[in-house]
Amino acid sequence: MNTRTGNTTCLWKKDFVLLILTGLVVMLIYSMTTERTTTVGSPVPKLQPKPVLCNAAISEESITPLKDTRHFLVSAFMDRRVKGFDIRIIGIFRRDSIQPLHCSFCCGSVFNQTTPATVLIHSDHFGFPYGATDVLCPLPKNCDASYITLLTKPSANASEHTFIPIRNKSEKLRFNFTVCISSLFGDYNNVLQFAQTLEMYKVVIYNTSCGPELNRLLESYSQEGFLEVVPWPIGKFLKPSTGWRFSEHGGDLHYFGQIVTLNECMYRSMERSRYVLLNDIDEIIMPYKHDNLVSLMNTLEPQHPNVGEFLIENHFFPKKHFEPSKRFHLPQWEKVPGVNILEHIYREDPDRSAYHPHKMILKPKLIEQTSVHEVLRKFGERYKVPLDVCRIIHVRVALRGYLKLEELNEDKRLWDFQEKLVPNVDKALKRAGLFPAEEQKKL
Ligand SMILES: *[C@@H]1O[C@H](CO)[C@@H](O)[C@H](O)[C@H]1NC(C)=O
Ligand SMILES: *[C@@H]1O[C@H](CO)[C@@H](O)[C@H](O)[C@H]1NC(C)=O
Ligand SMILES: *[C@@H]1O[C@H](CO)[C@@H](O)[C@H](O)[C@H]1NC(C)=O
Ligand SMILES: *[C@@H]1O[C@H](CO)[C@@H](O)[C@H](O)[C@H]1NC(C)=O
Ligand SMILES: *[C@@H]1O[C@H](CO)[C@@H](O)[C@H](O)[C@H]1NC(C)=O
Repeated sequence: MNTRTGNTTCLWKKDFVLLILTGLVVMLIYSMTTERTTTVGSPVPKLQPKPVLCNAAISEESITPLKDTRHFLVSAFMDRRVKGFDIRIIGIFRRDSIQPLHCSFCCGSVFNQTTPATVLIHSDHFGFPYGATDVLCPLPKNCDASYITLLTKPSANASEHTFIPIRNKSEKLRFNFTVCISSLFGDYNNVLQFAQTLEMYKVVIYNTSCGPELNRLLESYSQEGFLEVVPWPIGKFLKPSTGWRFSEHGGDLHYFGQIVTLNECMYRSMERSRYVLLNDIDEIIMPYKHDNLVSLMNTLEPQHPNVGEFLIENHFFPKKHFEPSKRFHLPQWEKVPGVNILEHIYREDPDRSAYHPHKMILKPKLIEQTSVHEVLRKFGERYKVPLDVCRIIHVRVALRGYLKLEELNEDKRLWDFQEKLVPNVDKALKRAGLFPAEEQKKL
């Protein structure tokens, strides 16, 4: 359980520090299993609103309250995959207060025409009063809209409403992989994993609050252009739950809005990234038969051209068991807080009689709505990637703690990356100023 303190910007400091080492290692692994794109060093393009031609308020925020309702708008995207519709708004809607809504547009200077909105609440709201919601809108004829909002009455004065930008869909493909991290808050945190993931591909992270160490790391990566930090001040508007089930954890919205951010990230990445990985920051999607994710997907894609949802099974490596040779118990990491995932090489077999969650590699153009462990609505098919081809390495508290060491599987796949991993972790730790003082000087 997390408890809130008065200092909201440092809510999760302790967790971050604990995970620093793990996060770094995981990030670096990703950096090796994917290929660096050619956009090294180019800044992340920020959404640049065009000169406003409509004399209405435009919101630049990640979460915008919708006037005359209890709902919130998050982002709008061009999306013509569902027949009859042009724009999809991702929002957070109060489920018991859904009313008919009308899409209102800013097309040039005229916004006096509305179209009927179709409201689709995602099915995985877990009983919370608020849920991730899509709103589909057709564009009126002859309207090249740049901004959109929703009205409760078609006759409402749209000038008095706040519009949100329609995100530009004519972006070019620039990344093979984007990792969507919904969780800069909550009790899994990931400084460590960060440093690693970032070395290699685009990462989008939703930041509610974070500790100073992590912030330093985030800022340095944002400057390099691989990390996009989306502000996610959900606590300003709702009482986000720290858990996943309303009956148990209470609050307004599932796990800080995780479902909303995952979907937002997927749409945000649709044009610019071939694949989107939805995994937590302390989980590594690890190919076992290929050198990296690019080569894994180059093999899977032609075999399964219609698949949009690749399910990868999660495998737990209990952190209580250490590899005996202590080969990777490195002196320079000793004082760095966190789990050194290279030291944990014993893998639990999943209990096949119980539900076992997956994480996913998605082809975003074939996905309409996603949840955390599976896709809810899609245009393509699903494929469970075989265990010997790819699985998730997840070092954590044992799930089946009663298993004896002899009952676990030795798995040193991570070690295949050690040659680059160790120096890269060292570099990242130094850069973030997280090395012991005397080591820091040797840089
Ligand atoms: C994506 O992977 C392909 C190999 O399948 C490679 O040719 C291409 O350069 C990569 N694109 C980016 C943006 O890294
Ligand atoms: C909308 O505005 C245009 C141009 O200002 C005007 O010609 C048209 O009659 C208006 N339509 C409605 C329904 O008010
Ligand atoms: C709509 O609201 C704007 C801004 O408050 C105001 O200037 C305008 O006169 C209103 N239009 C109508 C038809 O009420
Ligand atoms: C998107 O960008 C293209 C070219 O960069 C531009 O022509 C178009 O108007 C933009 N669309 C929107 C909705 O901003
Ligand atoms: C993350 O959010 C906190 C709280 O709003 C803010 O202080 C911090 O600067 C943000 N970090 C980054 C890297 O955007």
